[in-house]
Amino acid sequence: MNICIIGTGFVGVVSASVYASFGNTVIGLDIDPQKIEKLKHGQVPFFEPGLSDLLLEQQKSGNLHFTTDYSLAVSQAEVVFVAVGTPSTSTGEADLKYVFATADSIAPFLQENAIVVIKSTVPPGTLTQYAERVKTKTQAQFFMASVPEFLREGSAVADTLHPDRVLIGTTEPEVAEKLTLLHQPLQTQIIHTSPESAQMAKYSANAYLATRITFINQIADLCEKNGADIEEVIQAIGQDKRIGSQYWYPGLGYGGSCFPKDVKELAAYANSIGETNNVLIKINEVNEQRIEKILNQYEQKIGGWLNKKVAVLGLSFKPETNDMREAPSIKIIPYLLSKGAQVLGFDPKAEWPVNGDISFFTATPPVTTVSPDSSFTQVNTINDAVRDVDVIMCVIEWPEITSFDFSQSKSAKTQWFVDTRNQFSPKEVTAWGYNYLGIGR
Ligand code: UGA
Repeated sequence: MNICIIGTGFVGVVSASVYASFGNTVIGLDIDPQKIEKLKHGQVPFFEPGLSDLLLEQQKSGNLHFTTDYSLAVSQAEVVFVAVGTPSTSTGEADLKYVFATADSIAPFLQENAIVVIKSTVPPGTLTQYAERVKTKTQAQFFMASVPEFLREGSAVADTLHPDRVLIGTTEPEVAEKLTLLHQPLQTQIIHTSPESAQMAKYSANAYLATRITFINQIADLCEKNGADIEEVIQAIGQDKRIGSQYWYPGLGYGGSCFPKDVKELAAYANSIGETNNVLIKINEVNEQRIEKILNQYEQKIGGWLNKKVAVLGLSFKPETNDMREAPSIKIIPYLLSKGAQVLGFDPKAEWPVNGDISFFTATPPVTTVSPDSSFTQVNTINDAVRDVDVIMCVIEWPEITSFDFSQSKSAKTQWFVDTRNQFSPKEVTAWGYNYLGIGR
């Protein structure tokens, strides 16, 4: 099939490469010429394991192209995917301005019977509004569908090639048939629903996972107070098949470009239709307050942050990505600096902005600028970060960090080892000579 994918973020580039690998002709489009220039030269504008190889392979095969030109990309396409960002507004609603802008841009070039598929996460009702908008600018007959995306950053290629399911939301049988054919090579179960159910399923999946994380974090906080160990509790309750043992690790709360935004958007959507007493508002609130709460607890135990030298290991929001959106480091580092600590940061891939302006990475307070002359430095190795610090704080479970031999780097000065992901054995860390602080243990 001839396919066009609008938006070259994680979802757009991964989907374009994967559809191309099935023998389709795919054009990826973005309004950012710098991104497109990079992609044309086989460079992925962000770090995602395995994506660079797949992209180059498909470009060489002649199946995958990139452009900023709507007429070129859309006029040949049987299926047009919209995979642009849907950030939250300041009041939490999904900001659909990028989605609707694509409606205006594609409309004049749509071919007869084209299928427009919204992959971006959007609230129910969006498809109708989108179609209305397109209709004002074209005479062509076209169809709409919703095919939400469930990939995770850091494992995006594997998730797209081996999804648990593909969800096709449309009311038109011919559209369902064509999109089923397109996804057949994935050899996974294909679920057919209405567009509204597909959109609700996407929001619900993320909101459920975010709720699950918030729940286990709160149980961890109870364990902290009563001598129970959250890891033992998880092992015990995970044996119940109804509960399961995956996606269940406690920490500093959920971050990244999806969960915080999707929980807020679903809460705002619920409010907008009169369902004001919904749990998601509380989930969001608890998550936003979590880092400060935990850091305050650590502060009590460590005896204050003033003049302490702290190594913060892991700046990205999770391992295997350089994405820092809603990363714990964005809150932790300004917090420590504000308390008078000196901070050394390390990450295998993510880079703290040179000008110290972190406002792009967080939609929630504190939106603090770390000035270039502040007491924060990003260093290139773990050794450089942990040398003669008072506190080692392991924030993200990058394999480079969890497999590092901290027994060798113990100096007389380093008294505290903070393990915000419960990745280390408290017994072992104590045997290395540190005081151990984890989450709920
Ligand atoms: C998430 C979903 O997992 C994907 O299915 C979805 O497609 C994607 O959002 C999206 O909507 O685009 P992602 O944000 O890449 O994917 O990352 P996750 O691995 O799900 O982690 C999200 C956050 O939850 C991270 O901060 C992570 O550290 C945290 N987390 C995850 C926990 O604190 N505990 C866990 O047990 C799992």
